[in-house]
Amino acid sequence: MLWSGQLVAVPTETVYGLAGNALDPAAVARIFATKQRPSFDPLIIHVPDLGAARSYVEDIPGPLLKLAKAYWPGPLTLLLPRRKLIPDLVTAGLNRVAVRVPSHPLMLELLKELDFPLAAPSANPFGYISPTQPSHVLDQLGGDIPLVLDGGPCKVGVESTIVAYDEGEVVIYRKGGLAIEQIEAVVGAVKVRTHSSSNPAAPGMLKSHYAPRKPLIVVEQGGLLTENTNTDIAYLTFQQRLPEHIIQRQLSPLGDLTEAAQRLFAYLRELDAAPVKSIVAELLPEHGLGRAINDRLRRAAAQ
Ligand code: TXA
Ligand code: MG
Repeated sequence: MLWSGQLVAVPTETVYGLAGNALDPAAVARIFATKQRPSFDPLIIHVPDLGAARSYVEDIPGPLLKLAKAYWPGPLTLLLPRRKLIPDLVTAGLNRVAVRVPSHPLMLELLKELDFPLAAPSANPFGYISPTQPSHVLDQLGGDIPLVLDGGPCKVGVESTIVAYDEGEVVIYRKGGLAIEQIEAVVGAVKVRTHSSSNPAAPGMLKSHYAPRKPLIVVEQGGLLTENTNTDIAYLTFQQRLPEHIIQRQLSPLGDLTEAAQRLFAYLRELDAAPVKSIVAELLPEHGLGRAINDRLRRAAAQ
């Protein structure tokens, strides 16, 4: 299917992707159409290893090469100067292409079989919550794609961290499944530039994104008072349990940020489907994966 320009939903360790041949503009156009994604929002290409990445980019700046060597395969996407064989549609005309080596074994096996990279955005309608299980993909795009490769639930659960090298500095464009602390351990202090306007360098940076259909409100950590809970509202907390009659999910009762990230999008979908008018979500500690989770919650809350 991929050889003939068709799309396949694929598992990665972060979220499920909607994949097509990145070198085939018709396949890439099909990705944008299926997701109803604006064409100014560029795609990530997925390759099996660093060697394959080199064939699609002009060069890899030293600090980003260090990161690739430390964290590929893994939830790290690098913005690198593209070679001309990458179609304009993939990069939305930008000079850099986003590249990553995912760590999901099934996806890696697939990438090794192919002689082209896979362009793959998250396999959800544009702006909605990303899918972390095959059923999430089927629920929303099942009718539009011929095949979903079942790789089980995603182990990381939030999208990759996007990193570039701008004027001598390592810059984080999207907080994600590789914690900033892990990046700084390899390249020293980094800059974070994840806010943006309507025509952003990385539209995952769009303020309203990753959003459920119901209104979502975020509150500071520990800001939920049991006596104020309301049965019209579903609650997403980090560890806290609310009275039993309240519809609620705990991201991690024992306070584990890795577990919280794994569960985040599935729980948001469940609460979005619950018989309530809105969702209230408690923010997590602002370190490690907590930063990426809080970023998604804040964007989901932005209207
Ligand atoms: O974990 C992930 O990264 C998942 C899995 C499937 O790999 N993919 C993913 O793709 O999250 P998507 O399309 O939902 O988000 C890609 C982000 C967008 O915010 C896009 O703007 C940014 O990457 N991006 C892609 N190419 C870019 C470029 N050349 N310059 C700046 N940002 C870019
Ligand atoms: Mg996405």
